[in-house]
Amino acid sequence: MTTPGASRSARKEISLAGQVAVVTGGGSGIGAATCQRLAEHGAAVAVLDVDHTSARRVARDLGERDLGARDYAVDVTDFVALAAVIDAVTADLGTPTILVNNAGGSGMARLGDYPISEWERLVALNLTSVFHGIKLLGPRMVEAGGGCIVNTASISGVRPAIGEGPYAAAKAAVVALTANAALEYAPVVRVNAVSPGAIHTGLTDPLLSGVAGAREWWTAKTPLGRIGEPAEIADVILFLCSPLARFVTGQNIVVDGGMTLHGSGVDGLLDRLERGTLDPHSQ
Ligand SMILES: NC(=O)c1ccc[n+]([C@@H]2O[C@H](COP(=O)([O-])OP(=O)(O)OC[C@H]3O[C@@H](n4cnc5c(N)ncnc54)[C@H](O)[C@@H]3O)[C@@H](O)[C@H]2O)c1
Repeated sequence: MTTPGASRSARKEISLAGQVAVVTGGGSGIGAATCQRLAEHGAAVAVLDVDHTSARRVARDLGERDLGARDYAVDVTDFVALAAVIDAVTADLGTPTILVNNAGGSGMARLGDYPISEWERLVALNLTSVFHGIKLLGPRMVEAGGGCIVNTASISGVRPAIGEGPYAAAKAAVVALTANAALEYAPVVRVNAVSPGAIHTGLTDPLLSGVAGAREWWTAKTPLGRIGEPAEIADVILFLCSPLARFVTGQNIVVDGGMTLHGSGVDGLLDRLERGTLDPHSQ
């Protein structure tokens, strides 16, 4: 079995010194781990989150380790507010050269049961916010002569399952938007996506900790035999932002312990939740 942290020595070589990184949804889970990794490798990190308390905590923890970071409260679905925060980051830290469009969230219902307002909320949060970030920083990175954008998509966009219609559609569109932006901003700016599988974060904790059998069920569906950690996505984001990935653009890197080799991430989840059973061995 692979172990988290096994790549520590390879990571030593990566330097992001002099770079300014913007991470949305930086207050929790994958975003917080990404802030940590980018800061550890020398970037000045802007931690953006709608939950200012969590953004502040992440920036303060990095500051206590003498790593440069500042927190900003913003709802990434609000273009005007995000534009103002990007201007503030530029004034405080310098022109961003790394953007991680990571804020997101999901839902679980049958298509006919989704309220229109919930569809619109999930598409705005998972897709339109990514467009906002690219629109604001893509041209500035081109003007600055270089940069790197990573968008957090999902295996749900690659192998959708019943119950996650708007989330899956939005994440699939993020992959298409990633390719589109990569074409538009090449050769100056690289744009890639990362698609996590089952990672233990604030997003998945209600399922993993709150639903009996959920952890065993997801583990059984993952060839590498465990639930992933936020740092394991952050490591791939770090790679994509680093010179090691200098010939990689327009790609969607799936980081799921092999889960999608078996099918979609949450295949049958809605049925099981409705039946109140989550036996890891029954399909
Ligand atoms: N955890 C997983 O298994 C998993 C799997 C696939 C994809 N993802 C994706 O990874 C990304 C990070 O999710 P996570 O698992 O770390 O979840 P998380 O809930 O731990 O973190 C998400 C963060 O985004 C912030 N956020 C939510 N709405 C926002 C808004 N409108 N503006 C600014 N910030 C906002 C939240 O406050 C939170 O801090 C998401 O895009 C998610 O869809 C996660």
